Amino acid sequence: MLLPCASAMAIAYRKKKMDSRFWWPILLAFAMASAGARSQSTDALGFLSIDCGIEPGKSYVDHLTNISYVSDADFIDTGVNHNTSAPYRGDVPTPVLDTLRAFPNGTRNCYTIRSRAVVQGSKYLLRAWFRYGNYDGLLNSQSLAFELHLGVNYWVGVNVTMPNLPYRKEEIIAVATAGYLSVCLVNTGMGTPFISGIELRPLKDSLYPAVNKRRSLLLFHRWNLGTAHGNYVRLLLLLLLLLSLSERFYL
Ligand SMILES: *[C@@H]1O[C@H](CO)[C@@H](O)[C@H](O)[C@H]1NC(C)=O
Ligand SMILES: *[C@@H]1O[C@H](CO)[C@@H](O)[C@H](O)[C@H]1NC(C)=O
Ligand SMILES: *[C@@H]1O[C@H](CO)[C@@H](O)[C@H](O)[C@H]1NC(C)=O
Ligand SMILES: *[C@@H]1O[C@H](CO)[C@@H](O)[C@H](O)[C@H]1NC(C)=O
Repeated sequence: MLLPCASAMAIAYRKKKMDSRFWWPILLAFAMASAGARSQSTDALGFLSIDCGIEPGKSYVDHLTNISYVSDADFIDTGVNHNTSAPYRGDVPTPVLDTLRAFPNGTRNCYTIRSRAVVQGSKYLLRAWFRYGNYDGLLNSQSLAFELHLGVNYWVGVNVTMPNLPYRKEEIIAVATAGYLSVCLVNTGMGTPFISGIELRPLKDSLYPAVNKRRSLLLFHRWNLGTAHGNYVRLLLLLLLLLSLSERFYL
């Protein structure tokens, strides 16, 4: 976006008969800046993607989406890191689901999500990922269920009892009531809570007018209506449509 602007500027100045050689280094700098901006575009949008359970300080770019993921160590002090067992990993590599952080101690363990993008009063989509993957070797020997809370409010119950469930994903659209967001895992006496990933996506305030600081929206369902395999754009549009439908029907 910077580039056309810079070229227009250069043309305008050339008409004033300025030496065009003077502008080339500047144009080049703009071109490089805009190329750099493209590769970091998801960060610039305020995306924050946290891979729970990887080594502290580690980060990587997901090769499918080009979205960068960071370790969760900066967002929480409690819990233990684990790897899922290889046989329970999917055919398509999904690094965010391969590691997790489990909370054997304490009834309530909370992530404090602070980032440049989290501003009190602004709207966010928060996504939480869960893949049990038999990380503790206790598959089938217990039922496993716990609660997910956003701050002090109940978000959803997470039940991962079905062993063939590849993963679970929960989504909420909410307004930050402080300069951070608190994602809490609550032990309800039915196994050790865990989490694989947390993704934060800032939303424009004009989206989802039904959401305010007292009311959040949960994703009800998402259907894939004949999309080509891997067509993320249409899936996203469908998500937005369905979120607005679920807003209409469930609030
Ligand atoms: C990811 O980035 C690479 C290099 O910049 C690019 O070739 C590729 O098309 C991008 N993939 C997606 C899904 O955007
Ligand atoms: C998970 O696997 C990676 C790579 O094999 C290893 O470096 C790491 O120590 C493992 N983490 C845990 C908690 O076992
Ligand atoms: C959990 O509590 C036990 C007993 O107090 C302690 O030995 C263990 O290190 C704690 N684990 C974590 C991850 O805090
Ligand atoms: C979790 O799901 C299983 C299988 O559907 C069910 O039997 C169990 O009661 C559920 N547990 C909770 C706590 O909801």
